[in-house]
Amino acid sequence: MTEQIMVRTEEPGDCASVESLIKAAFADVRLSDHQEHNLVKRLRLSTAFIPELSLVAVASDQGIVLGHILLTRAQLLRGETSQPLALLALAPLSVHPDFQLRGIGSQLINAAHEKARRLGFGAIIVVGHADYYPRFGYRQAKDYGISFPFHVADECGMVVELKPGALCNYSGCVRYDPAFGL
Ligand SMILES: CC(C)(COP(=O)(O)OP(=O)(O)OC[C@H]1O[C@@H](n2cnc3c(N)ncnc32)[C@H](O)[C@@H]1OP(=O)(O)O)[C@@H](O)C(=O)NCCC(=O)NCCS
Repeated sequence: MTEQIMVRTEEPGDCASVESLIKAAFADVRLSDHQEHNLVKRLRLSTAFIPELSLVAVASDQGIVLGHILLTRAQLLRGETSQPLALLALAPLSVHPDFQLRGIGSQLINAAHEKARRLGFGAIIVVGHADYYPRFGYRQAKDYGISFPFHVADECGMVVELKPGALCNYSGCVRYDPAFGL
């Protein structure tokens, strides 16, 4: 199944399909506010948006959008005197319920990591499933001295270094784009 899926950059014509996909993916997620599609709309209009880091997974034969991942700009605040560190926030990640557990989420994450690395970013933060993201290298943000501007269970607030040592000597609180409405 995995070889029939192609990951590419989202195009303007994908927006409606991506919205439907996100709604379907989160429909039965207990902790969701079911507003992830609106978050994506706001992020697309924000300065945090990097078009190359909004990716879709499509069925290569029919071009139907089955998955989507978005990485946007965030910052790590390191006290009042230091410059914030630029990093990325992963949110949201969506795979259509009928196509989950076939490696699509993994393909999207790996492709997004590769692109982000090529664009020069050193780290990505995520708030998400504690049993899913560690397989892609994510570790508890707490272990790096990184905190979030809201309550999050230690195991769900995670970070991955795209370049070894990228977070060495960095710690602080994550600042999300205002589009997150925090
Ligand atoms: C979470 C999600 C993106 C995973 O995508 P996917 O394409 O189904 O996952 P993959 O096929 O790449 O990976 C499957 C593996 O991940 C595990 N996995 C899938 N969803 C998981 C979850 N919610 N929590 C923990 N592990 C999960 C599977 O058990 C499987 O493990 P295995 O390889 O050891 O058998 C997808 O289920 C989804 O869209 N869920 C609804 C929206 C959501 O929760 N998004 C993430 C918000 S943090």
